[in-house]
Amino acid sequence: MKEVFSRAVSGYSYVGAVGAAMTLYDLIWWPKFFPSWYLISFWMILLGLRFYLRQLVDSKPLHYRGATALIIGGTSGIGFEFAKLFARDGYKLVLVAKDTKELQVTTQELQRIGAISVEPIAMDPSQPTALEELVVELKRRNINVDFLINSAIVGKKSLFWEMAPEANEEHINLNCRVVTQLTRLLLPDMIKLGRGKVLNVGSIAAFFPGPLFSVYIATVSYLLALSEALAEELRGTGVTCTILCPGPLTKAQTKNPLISSSAREAALEGYKSIFRGDTVTIPGWTNWAMVAVSQFLPLGLRLKLSKMLALDISFQTMVQSE
Ligand SMILES: NC(=O)c1ccc[n+]([C@@H]2O[C@H](COP(=O)([O-])OP(=O)(O)OC[C@H]3O[C@@H](n4cnc5c(N)ncnc54)[C@H](OP(=O)(O)O)[C@@H]3O)[C@@H](O)[C@H]2O)c1
Repeated sequence: MKEVFSRAVSGYSYVGAVGAAMTLYDLIWWPKFFPSWYLISFWMILLGLRFYLRQLVDSKPLHYRGATALIIGGTSGIGFEFAKLFARDGYKLVLVAKDTKELQVTTQELQRIGAISVEPIAMDPSQPTALEELVVELKRRNINVDFLINSAIVGKKSLFWEMAPEANEEHINLNCRVVTQLTRLLLPDMIKLGRGKVLNVGSIAAFFPGPLFSVYIATVSYLLALSEALAEELRGTGVTCTILCPGPLTKAQTKNPLISSSAREAALEGYKSIFRGDTVTIPGWTNWAMVAVSQFLPLGLRLKLSKMLALDISFQTMVQSE
């Protein structure tokens, strides 16, 4: 009972509560006016109900217990937070990252917090034959992947014509090719088993035009389009595809605390959305509202606003100012 109540007052259920309050207000004060106002109120109630019911069926991932999560880029940021969440819930982990020392430290940290199994694989997934080698290595270790988390994404801030050509290639290679090909290689087995979850870490930036981050934003837009299409193609197979679109993380230097969240918060939202089978998840209601509102703005204004935000942001690690 306590849990049902806490869910009712958490999350987006307040949208429904506001809708109900608005309807009541309409009925008392404006019974004959503003039919569109009624529509908005009812729409809000339905939206709130939808979120509430979703939270109720926010399945406990019991049927997957003991399954394996493969995390690309699990040594830091959102990827590391995902690793901690999977470890906490008793899943086995396979971590892939370039830096051997970081992998060792991360593995020890995850074992310290109670991970039942952590298999570190040191490799640069962006190398030409790395993904095929990874799949062979997984087979050799008898590992079946139930969760694929693609979190190794690069993003650099620069004027397009000043970005080094190699940096452009790195963006397209890691953010687009690696995610596409690895998912392609692992999906058939998931579909055969009738279960599996793919989560791509993208960015809220995918919904905006991207001056100063043109190549990065083009690649996360690619990830968004790919994930949405895949989610629909996978319907009915038992496998789902989700894209997590966080706003700037708190490690990024931004003067907008309203739109930033910690890597932990973003990963937790993503983690829940995997089990709900969501297609797109945008952590934080301000980010969600920003995306919703921006769809109605003219392109010129969206470009200016995006540029203002980009000028304000200089990520410390993920995005380095050139
Ligand atoms: N940071 C933000 O403010 C922010 C905002 C919105 C969205 N996001 C999204 O969040 C995701 C991850 O961001 P984060 O801040 O968590 O990143 P992060 O802390 O920099 O972690 C990135 C991970 O990717 C790996 N990686 C980086 N470059 C690589 C390369 N060239 N080849 C292979 N692996 C590489 C890193 O491990 P190794 O270097 O050891 O391999 C690390 O484990 C990205 O998808 C980004 O689009 C971030």
